[in-house]
Amino acid sequence: MKIAVIGGDGTGPEVTAEALKVLAAVAQLEGFNFKTTDYDFGGDRYLSTGEILPPGVADELRDYDAIYLGAVGHPDVAPGILEKGLLLELRFQLDQYINLRPVKLYPGVETPLAGKGPDDIDFVVVRENTEDLYCGVGGFLKKNTPDEVASQTALYTRKGCERCIRWAFEYTRQRNNPKGKLLTLVAKTNVLTYGHDLWWRTFNEVAAEYPDVKADYNHVDACCMWMVKNPEYYDVIVTTNMFGDIITDLGAMIQGGMGVAAGGNINPEPGGASMYEPMGGSAPKYTGQNVINPIAAIGAMAMLLEHTGQPAAAARVMKAIQTVTGTKMKSQAAGRMGYGTREIGDLVVENL
Ligand code: IPM
Ligand code: MN
Repeated sequence: MKIAVIGGDGTGPEVTAEALKVLAAVAQLEGFNFKTTDYDFGGDRYLSTGEILPPGVADELRDYDAIYLGAVGHPDVAPGILEKGLLLELRFQLDQYINLRPVKLYPGVETPLAGKGPDDIDFVVVRENTEDLYCGVGGFLKKNTPDEVASQTALYTRKGCERCIRWAFEYTRQRNNPKGKLLTLVAKTNVLTYGHDLWWRTFNEVAAEYPDVKADYNHVDACCMWMVKNPEYYDVIVTTNMFGDIITDLGAMIQGGMGVAAGGNINPEPGGASMYEPMGGSAPKYTGQNVINPIAAIGAMAMLLEHTGQPAAAARVMKAIQTVTGTKMKSQAAGRMGYGTREIGDLVVENL
């Protein structure tokens, strides 16, 4: 397995090191080989050379079996520059049209939802990852005058929503929830009567091909309500890029915070290059202190393994993570885990 590693900014490299430690240990146990290549993209390189993603790099990354990203975001770089120039650029150039975000409460992890436990909070959000308000279409008129006009256009294509919806149905089928296979489309058809009408019609057409999967629909505002009130209702959610961005942060909070939430930017086509990342950001104030939580980063590695032909290794890592959260860690918050970053990585390795 050939993996490109972008440790990135702030605490990104620290949590990445723990994920790679776990990868090395599980590769030995499961008997597969891997090779990593480091790329130094991120804030420091941008500040010293002006480069974010040099030309040709995306093509180079296509040759890897997977990409692992620690975090982007640097206190000396204006917000948006690295996020757009690196993360969004890779999503678009590599056509990673699925953003997969499991919302799973591990044993021992505290959720802000009173009375809910690991059996109640276990669903997956499939977020479209290449269209919608993220496509950068828009502009200003009479900028910086009292008559200024700004427009920002959400674009949806039949191809873009259909491939995402179809993948979500397949995923729901494979996930095979013993409580019943349920895919919920989350959108806003009552207001977004063009773009989300396209999603709605496409969803219903594709649903007819999956009679074993129950297809349901929630408006996005109601979904926020249900995620807090009845998270156990959900199995898989499929949604648009912008709404997916918002509801997955809500999801991260109910699963115990940014220290545990992991995600994948997936190009499911044959030969497609996918990228896995912890959701937490670069947390620059904790850099180099051995206090940041690496569980999300290790969880992102488990996702990488799951989707890169090593499901047994992925299952082993997921199980070890849950042993460590369930029996060892005091908290998922940076500095309050009862262990340092490296010690958590060691504990996961010991429990593989
Ligand atoms: C995410 C992030 C990104 C997004 C930002 C960093 C551009 O919030 O992966 O959810 O909005 O997609
Ligand atoms: Mn987000």
